[in-house]
Amino acid sequence: MRKITAFILISLLLINTLGGCGKQSGVNTVKKSDEEELVINDTHSDDGRNIIGISMPSQSLERWNRDGQFLKENFEKAGFEVLLSYGNDLIDEQIDGIEYMLESGADLLIITPIDASSLENVIKKAASSKVPIISYDRLILRSPYIDYYVSFDNYLVGKLQGEYIVNALDLANSDRSYNIEMVSGDPADNNARFFYDGAYDVLSPFIESGKLIVPSGQSDFFRTSTSSWSKELAKERFENILNSYYASGKTLDAVCCANDSTALGTAEAIEMDYTGENTVILTGQDADEANLINIKKGKQTMTVFKQLSNESIVTLDLAIAMLKGDNPGEDLIERANWPFECKFDTTSYDNEKETISAYLLTPTVITKDNMYEELVGKGYYEEDAAGNLIAK
Ligand code: GAL
Repeated sequence: MRKITAFILISLLLINTLGGCGKQSGVNTVKKSDEEELVINDTHSDDGRNIIGISMPSQSLERWNRDGQFLKENFEKAGFEVLLSYGNDLIDEQIDGIEYMLESGADLLIITPIDASSLENVIKKAASSKVPIISYDRLILRSPYIDYYVSFDNYLVGKLQGEYIVNALDLANSDRSYNIEMVSGDPADNNARFFYDGAYDVLSPFIESGKLIVPSGQSDFFRTSTSSWSKELAKERFENILNSYYASGKTLDAVCCANDSTALGTAEAIEMDYTGENTVILTGQDADEANLINIKKGKQTMTVFKQLSNESIVTLDLAIAMLKGDNPGEDLIERANWPFECKFDTTSYDNEKETISAYLLTPTVITKDNMYEELVGKGYYEEDAAGNLIAK
């Protein structure tokens, strides 16, 4: 394996990485110049450690800060050199970061794409240098060079959101109809479609039978989608929906919201523009700290929690096997004996070039009733002085 003489990080990482969740990486770096985004630290010895390049999409959402942190810590503990960069929600910035990793001699890349279909060329470059690729959490599309995919069962995430709504409204036993709206994720993120399909497959029989009504008429994936998972865009769209379809006093019973950033925007719109007295059932995903506060206050009803440190452990064990030259499958799960559920899937994730073998973890529903037990009790979050849950 190649050796490394320079330790390269993207300056954004250094400036912002930790801002998102307030944690420190302890990496010492020198900023080269204000114009240049590169920061070079020459302090690492030429010790022959394998280099892992980790490219995360942005720091604007809480979770990617946590993912970056967990991956970095786990790989460093296992003796790897880590180059971590954040794409700042900008495709070119993500590509630049990956190119720097390749130039620095990365031995394996872990990438969460901002736009699933925009990394084709840089991935080709990696493949021509025989650098293997793990698509992390989100699948990279249209490239024949993706070795593995590690994620949660994304269809199940949506299914849990849909089932939550069906049970909360007791649709199977009730003879009245309810009003629902959909807020979907970013169409550039392959997961967004899985979340939508998982939820919609549960909800659509009730929509067809008339037990669920979508007063805005906006129910398909694209009409309900939210670019960049933006809280502000979700809020804007939902204000329009409330002012156009609910202003005359129509009751809004539930919103099937794909993740927590869009749920925050939707909750704000409901707070400002909804005139009904009822508590609107509102779903989410990621167990972001602000959303857990909203769940406690009753402004959001549930979120789907994905244990990110487990996702990074699967990624680490997979990377170690790949770097040893193995071609792991189901056997990795048997050998690793992780204390959490994970399944090997070779059929669900077609990236438009081939079907990618995936390791999929299992998400958990979090509500007001189980949040302390599941998040604090299991050691993933701690309670601060104000009683809010802070991710560890
Ligand atoms: C998805 C990811 C979710 C959520 C969403 C918004 O790809 O699987 O957990 O974070 O992006 O960033």
